[in-house]
Amino acid sequence: MRTISRCLGLAFAAVLIVGGVPASAPAQNSSLAPTPPMGWNSWNHFACKVSDKVIRESADTIVANGMKDAGYVYVNIDDCWQGKRDAAGVIQPNEKFPNMKALADYVHSKGLKFGIYSSPGPKTCAGYEGSFQHEAQDAKTYAEWGVDYLKYDWCSAEKVYKPSEMQGVYRKMHAALMATDRPMVFSLCQYGLEAVWRWGASVGGNLWRTTDDISDSYDRMSVIGFDQNGLGPFAGPGHWNDPDMLEVGNGHMTHDEYLTHMSLWCILAAPLLAGNDLSKMTPETLAILNNPDVVAVDQDPLGTEGRRLRQEGPFELWMKLLADGSRAVGLFNRSEDAARMQVSFKEIGIIGETASVRDLWARHDLGPFNRSYSAEVPKHGVVLIKVKEATVGSAP
Ligand code: GLA
Repeated sequence: MRTISRCLGLAFAAVLIVGGVPASAPAQNSSLAPTPPMGWNSWNHFACKVSDKVIRESADTIVANGMKDAGYVYVNIDDCWQGKRDAAGVIQPNEKFPNMKALADYVHSKGLKFGIYSSPGPKTCAGYEGSFQHEAQDAKTYAEWGVDYLKYDWCSAEKVYKPSEMQGVYRKMHAALMATDRPMVFSLCQYGLEAVWRWGASVGGNLWRTTDDISDSYDRMSVIGFDQNGLGPFAGPGHWNDPDMLEVGNGHMTHDEYLTHMSLWCILAAPLLAGNDLSKMTPETLAILNNPDVVAVDQDPLGTEGRRLRQEGPFELWMKLLADGSRAVGLFNRSEDAARMQVSFKEIGIIGETASVRDLWARHDLGPFNRSYSAEVPKHGVVLIKVKEATVGSAP
């Protein structure tokens, strides 16, 4: 849908001030996203087939199936909700969304939060009305509706702005959101262009996409996910790298591949926005999304993003340091056959010889181990463990 070139530019673009863009925006509100945002977004499954009914039913299901209690609180409409502007320029939803304020009220009545989507360009990626030259007006409208989260997607902005103006463009919408006095999580979506992780927080972003779009395939998911190594220093409480939304449960990966997807996103401290049809979810899918031990890795209050410690061909060892001094460790097998994989306690920074190991997917303590732990890891699969020693060592 987009024609934009999506190469990851390493150039650290200077801020150019575009018409009406403030020289500096106030810092984003980090209390809005102290841990990576969790919720559900319509795009990955419904794309433009989203409607008021879909959003209401998704909100109902998130409450009924335990996802809300697991932490999934944002219910976000992606592209395709927009209609035309009225004579005063105020954006109107299209016929699939008869009353946006009533819909937001409904989502809020369930104890959930309500998210929406726009573009800084004249059109969204799907060709609907964007916010170009209506930024303050749109922010005000969103606040009046009761919006809690805005995903702001570059799309046709490439036709009206230079890449070097991108930072100013995002600052401008952030300033407009701040001027409303309604806290709204600000989600930058520009596919990792201009090395966004270097400046996303400074323009007010609570999260920023680091990659082009995910799809429901093991190849695409793993290219995106395993390519994230090294971006950790740019993430932390209030400002997160976003390798795109979850495809768990959309049907084109195996169970082990979805476990890999979820494990990797949690080690990466990625936003967890489920993208499946919640009304048709299998118990296996729900168990992946709701596993409290695994979600706790993502939501750990220390807010560090994990990284790859070792790679041996298709076998990768990733680790995330947790607030209690323990380590979440992922043994990932990207090969086409099951394989035995090992982690030594020394390589994850554990000083003593003995550590306790918990299998996070099984939610089962495996007991104390000496010096190392090894396990059989299925093809395209993962073994995700938490390793804790009595005396805390320093992270490697
Ligand atoms: C872009 C974004 C996607 C989605 C679509 C909607 O491709 O990267 O996440 O929002 O636009 O058109």
